[in-house]
Amino acid sequence: MLIDSFGRQITYLRISLTTNCNLKCVYCMPPDGIPVAQSEELLSNDEIVSIVRSAAGEGLRRVRLTGGEPLLRKGLVSLVCELAAIQGIEEITMTTNAILLERMASSLAKAGLKRVNVSLDTLDAEKFRRITRGGCLDRVYKGITTAERAGLQPIKINTVVVRGMNDGELRDFANLSVDHSWNIRFIELMPFGNSKDWGAGFPPADQRYYSVQEMHKDLAAFNLQPADTPPGNGPARTFRIPGALGTVGFISPVGEHFCESCDRLRLTADGSLRPCLLNDNEVPVREILREGESVIPALHKSLACKPQAHALIEGNLPNLRRMVQIGG
Ligand code: 5AD
Ligand code: SF4
Repeated sequence: MLIDSFGRQITYLRISLTTNCNLKCVYCMPPDGIPVAQSEELLSNDEIVSIVRSAAGEGLRRVRLTGGEPLLRKGLVSLVCELAAIQGIEEITMTTNAILLERMASSLAKAGLKRVNVSLDTLDAEKFRRITRGGCLDRVYKGITTAERAGLQPIKINTVVVRGMNDGELRDFANLSVDHSWNIRFIELMPFGNSKDWGAGFPPADQRYYSVQEMHKDLAAFNLQPADTPPGNGPARTFRIPGALGTVGFISPVGEHFCESCDRLRLTADGSLRPCLLNDNEVPVREILREGESVIPALHKSLACKPQAHALIEGNLPNLRRMVQIGG
């Protein structure tokens, strides 16, 4: 079993498949992007499968593929197929910007992908272009509707709320849950490698944070009712507009700790186990694998250095990697 020093059982692995992205969201990437990793620095599909197989033997049950943008990964469909076939793995999901989803949703669903979370911070095409530094909102819509038809349901929409950027759009997002069985999830902005100036039209670093309490006030007129948190919704607190098909959730990594119930571990694209998104402790496994040794001791070592809780409030920020290099 994968149990950390605080008695938390780890059943969920988030795997970053690439540090590349076809968007450059202001809070995630510097304007010029980040250097492209050499292919030998990245874990191969076989290496990823081997790590997941070892972890599944120790009690891992769920896998999420992230990036950068996971749909850019070569051989993705066959990787999903192989992961889905591993004994013990109950579900494979993905977090994506959906730009390439229209093209890939159906083959991914056939390969065994269960659901997708789509990152989407605005419903305004012009604003989308500015936030993502060039992205096309229409492709995201097409990606979402194609994924839904392909059975990658329920669709979750992840919206990072930033004051002065999209805090005026919460009601429009929440309204999407009325006629669609989507889970809209509002996420507080984490002060993570994004303290720099984002350019004209974006607020300075000390004014961007928008709390879940403020979000609730904006949505007061909807009379949100507490709802069961859908499977795999992790730390979200979930509500429903009366009569709506979908739900509205709130994720508060900054204001409310949910560390006590954390069940996850991360694997970076270059092969390190990272036990906490918000802490720079990591255990490298790439060379262990390439020397033909078992990764099981490294899995346990990574859990031994999983912190009890993050220290964002104390101003303790990770700085080893950008968000695009971890995948949320
Ligand atoms: N704070 C909160 N969420 C973030 N994401 C990226 N950077 C941040 C941040 N600083 C989100 C993305 C995506 C997920 C992988 O993480 O919007 O939905
Ligand atoms: Fe790409 Fe997602 Fe980062 Fe945007 S938030 S740049 S879509 S990895």
